[in-house]
Amino acid sequence: MSRNLSRFLSVNPSEITPEHIYHTRRQFMKMIGVWVAGTLLPACTVSQAQSLVPPPATTTTAATSRPSVTPTPVATQEDKTPTPMTPNAQTQQDELGNPLTPYELVTGYTNFYEFTMSKQGVAALAKDFKTSPWEVTVGGLVHRPRTFDLEDLLKKFPQEERVYRMRCVETWSMVIPWVGFPLSQLLKEVEPMGSARFVRFESVYRPEEMPGQRMPGFPWPYQEGLRLDEAMHELTILATGLYGVPLPVQNGAPVRLVVPWKYGFKSIKSIVKIELVEEQPATLWSTVAPHEYGFYANVNPEVPHPRWSQASEQRIGESGRRPTLPFNGYAEQVADLYRGMDLRQYF
Ligand code: MTE
Repeated sequence: MSRNLSRFLSVNPSEITPEHIYHTRRQFMKMIGVWVAGTLLPACTVSQAQSLVPPPATTTTAATSRPSVTPTPVATQEDKTPTPMTPNAQTQQDELGNPLTPYELVTGYTNFYEFTMSKQGVAALAKDFKTSPWEVTVGGLVHRPRTFDLEDLLKKFPQEERVYRMRCVETWSMVIPWVGFPLSQLLKEVEPMGSARFVRFESVYRPEEMPGQRMPGFPWPYQEGLRLDEAMHELTILATGLYGVPLPVQNGAPVRLVVPWKYGFKSIKSIVKIELVEEQPATLWSTVAPHEYGFYANVNPEVPHPRWSQASEQRIGESGRRPTLPFNGYAEQVADLYRGMDLRQYF
């Protein structure tokens, strides 16, 4: 994309979203009956950082260059149950005043190792990936284990728009208008047992459709985990869309986790299994490189990754770097979860 990216940073998203994407967006909004009320986050003042954890990231080097991409939105759901939608809704910035990262960058510069390690190559390799039918089983230490298909998730849980910053451990970041619902709603539905302390997530394993899974070196399927209180936190969502359209495959279709105060690798894509467990679960990255990618992975500018600093980041679409905020700017909402913990140990 050779157009001047800086032009995008101060304009209304309606000016940066191609017409065909608007069309898909309208269908998606109708289907899920989205009640888009703009960002639902309270104003977030960045409070004092606690000294937290370092973490992780992928084994690639830090991404610092601007991508050059062509948008390739992939509609993964059909408009079967149109319902009225509330007009409005294109929130144009996050609660700190940061403009949204343009759609074409959010969808054209992605990490999805099941397809490829190339950030700009995922969309092309993912175009034949089947996201329908799709089921998510939720079980383990719960009183009411259940399997939800995608329609269940879209109908049962009111979908909201959430504008979140996303900070990759590789030091790039974006501001993304997700569509989704709090994970806590789904967990309440299955009634966790008192013995459940962690939540384990698993991505789909389909090597015939995902070329990266045919390569040696990673213990597929991708898996991640959260402490139960982190999973129940209001900021933690399951996303089914972004920019008002269904999630493109490259961004984790049809349903993914988003935990905005943690490095992006915690936000596991294309989820098929959620399990409540007693012991801290293994995660893909902490298995591959335990000294680089911890279980907690809270964004922390004070603790460098073993191979690079985490003090600053590049917002994709901007030139220059900006300081990284403790907990990615969500300290006020989440720092209490870690009170009393040595976050250098629990990184
Ligand atoms: N989930 C799966 N299943 N596979 C992946 O490779 N990459 C992670 C995370 N979730 C990844 C994943 C990483 S490293 C990041 S930074 C984010 O997804 C990137 O999300 P995005 O590509 O939508 O920006």
